[in-house]
Amino acid sequence: MAFPASFIDELVARNPIEDVVGQYVSLKRSGANMFGLCPFHGEKTASFSVAPDKGIYYCFGCHKGGGVVNFMMEVEGLSYPDAVRSLAKRAGMEVPEDEQYQSRYRQQERLWALMKEAGRFFYQQLYAPAGAKCLEYVAGRGLSKSIVTRFGIGYAPDSWNALVDAMRKKGYTDKELRDADLVGEKNGRIYDRFRNRLMFPIFDVRGNVIGFGGRVLDDSKPKYLNSNETLIFNKRKNLFGLNFAKKTKQPYMILVEGNIDVVTLHQYGFDNAVASLGTSLTEEQVTLLSRYTEQVVLTYDGDEAGQRAAQRAIPMLEKSGIQVKVLRMKDAKDPDEFLHKFGADRFKLLLEDSANRVEYQLNAIRSKYDLRVDDEKIKFVQEAAELISTLDSSVKREVYGGRVAESAGISLDAMKLEVNKAFKRRMARERKRQEKIDLAPMQALQPKDRSIRYDNMKSAMAEEGIIAQVIREPALLDKTGMLRGEDFSVELLGRVFAQLQTRHKQGLEVSVAVLSELTAQEMSHITGICQKHQGPVNEDAFHDCVRIVLNEKQRSKVSSDDDLLALQKKLMESKGTKG
Ligand code: GTP
Ligand code: MN
Repeated sequence: MAFPASFIDELVARNPIEDVVGQYVSLKRSGANMFGLCPFHGEKTASFSVAPDKGIYYCFGCHKGGGVVNFMMEVEGLSYPDAVRSLAKRAGMEVPEDEQYQSRYRQQERLWALMKEAGRFFYQQLYAPAGAKCLEYVAGRGLSKSIVTRFGIGYAPDSWNALVDAMRKKGYTDKELRDADLVGEKNGRIYDRFRNRLMFPIFDVRGNVIGFGGRVLDDSKPKYLNSNETLIFNKRKNLFGLNFAKKTKQPYMILVEGNIDVVTLHQYGFDNAVASLGTSLTEEQVTLLSRYTEQVVLTYDGDEAGQRAAQRAIPMLEKSGIQVKVLRMKDAKDPDEFLHKFGADRFKLLLEDSANRVEYQLNAIRSKYDLRVDDEKIKFVQEAAELISTLDSSVKREVYGGRVAESAGISLDAMKLEVNKAFKRRMARERKRQEKIDLAPMQALQPKDRSIRYDNMKSAMAEEGIIAQVIREPALLDKTGMLRGEDFSVELLGRVFAQLQTRHKQGLEVSVAVLSELTAQEMSHITGICQKHQGPVNEDAFHDCVRIVLNEKQRSKVSSDDDLLALQKKLMESKGTKG
């Protein structure tokens, strides 16, 4: 499974982190580091750093970090070997043979090829005699020939073996058809899973066909049959239409519910429409979106389910720095119906009118209360004031406050008072939280990741210093004397130290980027340490760190010896009293 260390060293050396990251993030140099907007969480100020000299990246906002391989894993959602493979390709390097890995990659490539063939087959069937009925349905839904071609829409014939036969002829095995989730199985025989359905290929951002969504041609149930998870398909991590929408010139994306909505929007010139894949919006999809846009217009169906989905999606999107607007569908249930009824210009007006999330949320709060009842009116004002107090501009607070005051029939001054009260309550809460942090500096030094704990803070700080410094200056590893990984109080730091020490002895590269067998959290923690401890290497300070770790180790040993002695004494005493 593992790649040879020397291969990884060369791979890392031939893929400078700033070049690789630079393909995804625009970086500006500032001293030894480069900064840009973090690709892993939406943000407006650049807290994502790359240290070319150390070969690492680290985000001071979301605390993700690592070397060039970790970056590829994170940004492309790849496994470790796949990230290595893609970097090797980038640098024109041959990947050393590894049976298991090679076969997995080959399997993936076969599945991509198979899905593409299947897509081609469905597409051809749409124009074959068997597809006449479906073609009629497509025309009835107002889809143009060119949009059908662009999205590769097709028809799965009403047959138990049309696809199976066609794919077998192309040389695909039954196992491959099963692995691609294109078939069902009964009594040891496989049969076409998608039958008599309108087929939407699902592409990943790179344009590979990774799954299908198949819609019935009438009102029968289930309306959609979607591919299940496979080696190449994860519905939580992809969005329908994103492979096209990512190229849009618009500064925002339109997020809708249905496949047909996406296709129709694109047909009408809205090339920035995407949909989640038959599930509610996931965190992974939000992260994916934030990589391509800073603003999303939510265009969910007007029914209750659609509105609930919007309420759920708003905070998720905002948390990743995406600005959210909500489009209210009028006189149609969804964008598809709207466009056919009223055309693109009218939809543009809806887009321009789409309320920002504040308006939308105020409406949602208002609809909960009956404003003719005094009690409810008060609750409405309080809840609205709570929301308004979170706005960062006084103009916004004034505008929205005014609107609430008007609909509740209270004075603007009374409303202002209410918002101020809510604001102070929030500040007080915030202050309490901050005080707690200030009063517990030790707590603040604890790793952000809860799974890594520092029990001996003094030693842990010294251990961090050692790791950070030997990575800057590996020659220091010749001057660590007796110090060994086991002496560290923090298991992770000791493990990393031992790895670095071994590599140094073997004359291999010493850097964060080459560390192996660390979890993503552990890797982030180590890169965080390296970015935290900046400044020149100071040999005296380094020796202090080493001394502290050895002393603390000695002390903990002594104190546990003490404990033993004390225990022994107690035992003796209790025996004494008995005897
Ligand atoms: P039309 O109703 O014909 O306009 O189709 P649509 O593509 O707009 O679908 P709709 O708005 O009804 O549903 C939104 C999305 O939810 C679809 O695109 C599917 O991804 C998913 N979906 C809908 N019905 C089903 C179902 O029965 N099963 C599954 N798994 N997903 C469904
Ligand atoms: Mn629809």
